[in-house]
Amino acid sequence: MKEQLANIRQQALAALNEAKDMADLDQLRVKYLGKKGELTAVLKQMGKLSAEERPVMGQLANDVRAALEQAIDDASQKLAEVTLAHQLQAEALDVTIPGTKAPIGHRHPMYIALDEIKDIFIGMGFTVLDGPEVELATYNFDKLNAEEGHPSRDWSDTFYFDEDSRVMLRSQTSPMQVRAMETMDLPIRIIAPGRVYRKDEVDATHSPMFHQVEGMVIDKNVTMGDLKGTLNLVMEELFGKGTVTRFRPHHFPFTEPSCEMDVQCHKCGGAGCPTCKGEGWIEVLGAGMIHPNVLRMAGIDPEIWSGWAFGMGLERTAMRRFKIADLRLIFENDIRFLEQF
Ligand code: DAH
Repeated sequence: MKEQLANIRQQALAALNEAKDMADLDQLRVKYLGKKGELTAVLKQMGKLSAEERPVMGQLANDVRAALEQAIDDASQKLAEVTLAHQLQAEALDVTIPGTKAPIGHRHPMYIALDEIKDIFIGMGFTVLDGPEVELATYNFDKLNAEEGHPSRDWSDTFYFDEDSRVMLRSQTSPMQVRAMETMDLPIRIIAPGRVYRKDEVDATHSPMFHQVEGMVIDKNVTMGDLKGTLNLVMEELFGKGTVTRFRPHHFPFTEPSCEMDVQCHKCGGAGCPTCKGEGWIEVLGAGMIHPNVLRMAGIDPEIWSGWAFGMGLERTAMRRFKIADLRLIFENDIRFLEQF
């Protein structure tokens, strides 16, 4: 039996030396120390020994068990260290290698222009409003003094949702004037940027969806001089000091008098070139003094209050601001184009 124990010890220690991983170790633990293991098998024969031999062999068996347990512990610790060392090596990170740059987007040129416009007006005490793109014809036309039969209400120009032409995609941001008059306390200073829709074919200067910025001031003793002074200032802020403008008479149903504002062509300085189609001037907005009918329909007394308003095409403004030649570039979202701003 003594020999058996010595053999077990020797074989087990040798096998432990060869163990490559924790699974090997577990297997050996079961093989030698388990309930059906080799050491246990030897111990079961203790009964056959004499009373003098039994404690001696018992002691010896315990020593072997302790030695094996110790050896398994040691081996397991060593394996853990080796595993860790391998892992550290495999996952080693060279923090000095240059990384891969993640592409970061930025604002669209049209929104850069819009943010500039907002900043200019906010600086002058205006509030920025947002409103519905699906609009009632009442707000888009009736309350803006464009009666039934007005050419702009035609089905060939406007996207209607119903047979009766009552619900539509707004064709201008001007309904926001009425919405502001109906909900805000006087005096009012607002701008209202947003999308508008018209049945236009796509070309270098047209799109069935585009953006406008509406602006409106209502106060006491407001004059055309305020309109011109404010809008001249805005154009200088947007396009640079010394920007030359002119106002031409025009007609809009909701203003009287009405005008259009042009900015002198940035390309030719007014001489006439392809950019301004030989005109020397580029139209930037429509404006005018709010028609007394419009004020009256919104419950505002035109004998006490007066106001001016304007509607500016945002794409056109961005195109001028960033010298973009074709409107389609603004909507196509070609990265090579957008990256330039
Ligand atoms: N709504 C007009 C259009 O889309 C632009 C406009 C003209 C707006 C005069 C105004 C204004 O507020 O006073 O053509």
